[in-house]
Amino acid sequence: MIIIMLTLTLGETVLAVAVHHYFYGGIRDTLIEHAEDANTLYRRFNDRIILNHWSNSLSEVMDNFRLKGTTLFIYNADGSMIASSTGVISSSSIKTDSELLGGNPLSRVEYLPQTKEKVMSLYYPIQIKGKLFILRYVSSLARVDRDLLLILIVSLLSGVGIALLVFFVSLKLAQSIVMPIKHIINVSSKMAVGNFSIRIKQDYRNELGVLARTLNAMADEIQKNERLQNTFISSVSHDLLTPLTGIKGWSETMLMNKDTTPEEFREGLNVISKESDRLKQLVGDLLDLSKLKQNTLALNRQKTRLDEVLKQAVASVQIKAAAKGCQVIVNSSKKMIAEVDGNRLQQVIVNLLDNAIKFSHADTQIIADLAEDEATIRLSVKDWGIIVDAKEIPKLTDPFYQTRANGRGSGLGLAISKNIVDLHGGRLSIKSTPETGTDAVIVLPKNIKPN
Ligand SMILES: Nc1ncnc2c1ncn2[C@@H]1O[C@H](COP(=O)(O)OP(=O)(O)O)[C@@H](O)[C@H]1O
Ligand SMILES: [Mg+2]
Repeated sequence: MIIIMLTLTLGETVLAVAVHHYFYGGIRDTLIEHAEDANTLYRRFNDRIILNHWSNSLSEVMDNFRLKGTTLFIYNADGSMIASSTGVISSSSIKTDSELLGGNPLSRVEYLPQTKEKVMSLYYPIQIKGKLFILRYVSSLARVDRDLLLILIVSLLSGVGIALLVFFVSLKLAQSIVMPIKHIINVSSKMAVGNFSIRIKQDYRNELGVLARTLNAMADEIQKNERLQNTFISSVSHDLLTPLTGIKGWSETMLMNKDTTPEEFREGLNVISKESDRLKQLVGDLLDLSKLKQNTLALNRQKTRLDEVLKQAVASVQIKAAAKGCQVIVNSSKKMIAEVDGNRLQQVIVNLLDNAIKFSHADTQIIADLAEDEATIRLSVKDWGIIVDAKEIPKLTDPFYQTRANGRGSGLGLAISKNIVDLHGGRLSIKSTPETGTDAVIVLPKNIKPN
């Protein structure tokens, strides 16, 4: 605002000086031009003047040089008045400086001694028969000054108008840009010190809106990661603690109790061995997940018979299935070859089969179905066990997510499986309805896409 005011004041001053110069200069130029024209005309008839007859020649000079709207005085070289267009000859004289006496016209703004009126005077030396006289044109500046004042007032008012307009426009601009930016800075600086629950609530337009939404999304992501980290720590500690408690319990019992029978001893060792397996599995899963998250898990892709991989996977879960009275049926009769990492895919299939058995009701069927088209292979593992709520399905592939604490699992299986399938350029999806049961489907491209 200060800058606007300063600029306007400067502008107004320059305008005032320029207009003043222009008007006064205009009057001076008109006077000089007239005097010069008249002088040229007069010189042609100069010879006719007879200096002895002053009254005649003076009135002739007067008639020749007179200009409407001005008063004309004629002075001697010594500055005394000898004629005036008003007819009144005043006794007051003028100062005649060397410039004037040297033949150069001179103009100045003066105040008339009697009326104090502001006037522009042009002193114009002329030669009449070799003798120097000085003409003085006096033009009133009252009207010009009035006009000047009017122009100044009008320009001042419009200047104030412009200043107000600029003020309100910049105020509006500040409200629509500066305020949102201040708000965004305020919120983001709170985020910067760790408060990620805060959000930019206003819905701004344009780039500011994009910025606000990006910051909000960033905070969402950080919160999600924070939650994941917390779940991770609590899940991992819980999952590690359970088998360790079993191992510790049994080993202490066997150590302390001197009368342990060989059967009890075997049972104890059996538990210790199983719990160690669980620990090994969990730590292995955690390592896989961390490699997958850091993109450091490299696939060893080779032409692989997927029907064989499926058969091996089924074989490895057969005992578990039988224990539950479940029958695993494999629908795949022909050779199916794809460029995949066989071991990793077996891990995925075992995971899906393991889930199907785990969440099946006893004495039901599980169907593993392998099919292909030109470019893709489709594997589905279907069971008729617990149904997953539609709302929960997208979360099943989140690390540590379990629909219910089932005690036997870490919630890492599907997260790892999805990541492995993604690495192959494929897709893992799960459907679950009471009519169709739960169906986990993997679609894989047969060949590595050239890129
Ligand atoms: N076939 C299925 N039927 C019902 N629920 C399933 C099935 N497969 C997976 N789920 C649900 O998804 C969750 C995550 O599975 P997963 O990642 O393999 O972990 P985990 O098997 O260790 O529980 C399971 O805990 C279960 O709630
Ligand atoms: Mg599982």
